[in-house]
Amino acid sequence: MPLIIDSLIFLVLAFTLHKLRQAHLLLFDLRDQSRQDNVTLFRQLEALQGLYTELDLRTSLPPTRGWAASPDFLLELARHARSAKPQTVLECSSGTSTLVLARCMQLNGAGKVFSLEHDHYYAEQTRQQLQRHGLQDWAQVLDAPLQSQALAGESWSWYELGALPSGLAIDLLVIDGPPQTTRALARYPAGPLLFPQLTAGAHVFMDDAGRSDEQAIVARWRQEFPMLTHATRVCEKGCAVLIKPI
Ligand SMILES: C[S@@+](CC[C@H](N)C(=O)[O-])C[C@H]1O[C@@H](n2cnc3c(N)ncnc32)[C@H](O)[C@@H]1O
Repeated sequence: MPLIIDSLIFLVLAFTLHKLRQAHLLLFDLRDQSRQDNVTLFRQLEALQGLYTELDLRTSLPPTRGWAASPDFLLELARHARSAKPQTVLECSSGTSTLVLARCMQLNGAGKVFSLEHDHYYAEQTRQQLQRHGLQDWAQVLDAPLQSQALAGESWSWYELGALPSGLAIDLLVIDGPPQTTRALARYPAGPLLFPQLTAGAHVFMDDAGRSDEQAIVARWRQEFPMLTHATRVCEKGCAVLIKPI
């Protein structure tokens, strides 16, 4: 009998120690995660502050991060647009990025942003924001519903390009849509459908390049368009840049 009681006490103690160890490890994980979150958040705040300063914004931007591009990606876009002074910017998906790019065109005194938006509600939201910022002359949001398109023997749900001016020569292409939920490699069609319209020296910025899906898309583009050079920028969601040589 005493042996049974001793064994029971031992089991309870072993179980308690095991649980304590688990809680201890969890606390370390939480501490590391919380430190990393603070670093990331601080970097985004610095980038947001940089955007407001460098673009001399007097009207507040709609929310960044989450569905929208993050401040670090937007700052990369803004710095490129201010220095390269692209005449024609094409964007896949509208939102905060449209305002930032339109403001760059306004500060440059030249250029136009065309923004493809599949969702009519969000297209209207971005148009209203452009009006609110007095940027409506520098960017045009184009209703571009997703439609089934055949490419490379597969079917893709991608922007209908009917509203896009024909023969557009693209100096800057920003890819942040369609949403990943449409299908795997959802943003791949931008390569075969838009890269032939890139001008010499044109840049392509791809948001969310830290995701495996976007990495697979970039790898496929690099195989199909070997003349483009590839670079990355340090951004919380990842940023890939493809450049067409001059
Ligand atoms: C990645 S988001 C576009 C982000 C945009 N480039 C920006 O910087 O704001 C892709 C799509 O999500 C949709 N969207 C925008 N804001 C949204 C929100 N708050 N909730 C759900 N969907 C949203 C729009 O249709 C947009 O084309």
